[in-house]
Amino acid sequence: MKCNKLTTIALLLWILTIAVFAWFFIRGNTTTGTDGRTAVVLHVSERDLILSEMRGLLSATQGILEGVNQGDMQRVIKASSAAGMVVAADASPALMTKLPMELKSLGMSVHRDMDAIANAAENKVPAPEILKMLSNTLTKCVACHSAWQLKVAN
Ligand code: HEC
Repeated sequence: MKCNKLTTIALLLWILTIAVFAWFFIRGNTTTGTDGRTAVVLHVSERDLILSEMRGLLSATQGILEGVNQGDMQRVIKASSAAGMVVAADASPALMTKLPMELKSLGMSVHRDMDAIANAAENKVPAPEILKMLSNTLTKCVACHSAWQLKVAN
């Protein structure tokens, strides 16, 4: 009987742990932002990592546009693949639990788009199509920036 009780307690604790983990994984570590957006609370190094990823996305965007303008598809491939899914692999499991689900999926889809642009350029997809893909991706940048802010934990 005693053993059964312990098993039940262990099981409940286990379920509770999973539930807490799932809660954080979906909701992330968030608070009210300073300007009406929701702030994700991170360590300074985690914030720096995300911001450097962001600057990578901006320079990829610039590289893609410049490549298309100059008819240089190698430049497009190089710029877009540098901001593809390879970049997302840098995120630690701890950081992943702090980021809300919606932000994670939007972020991943932008990195996937960058790989798709690289792939399209490799397959000689016409420039207007590539611009259309990039323009669709930029709507995701705008959507995410209008909803989220990053805040350093005190
Ligand atoms: C999933 C959400 C998300 C997506 C998608 C996203 N960003 Fe960001 N980005 C952020 C957040 C959050 C910040 C920090 C904003 C703040 O704290 O005010 C940020 C900041 C930035 C910064 C500032 C970097 C710095 O050093 O301060 C740049 C530049 C940037 N993003 C570019 C982009 C570009 C270009 C894209 C699309 C190709 C993009 N971002 C897509 C969430 C996102």
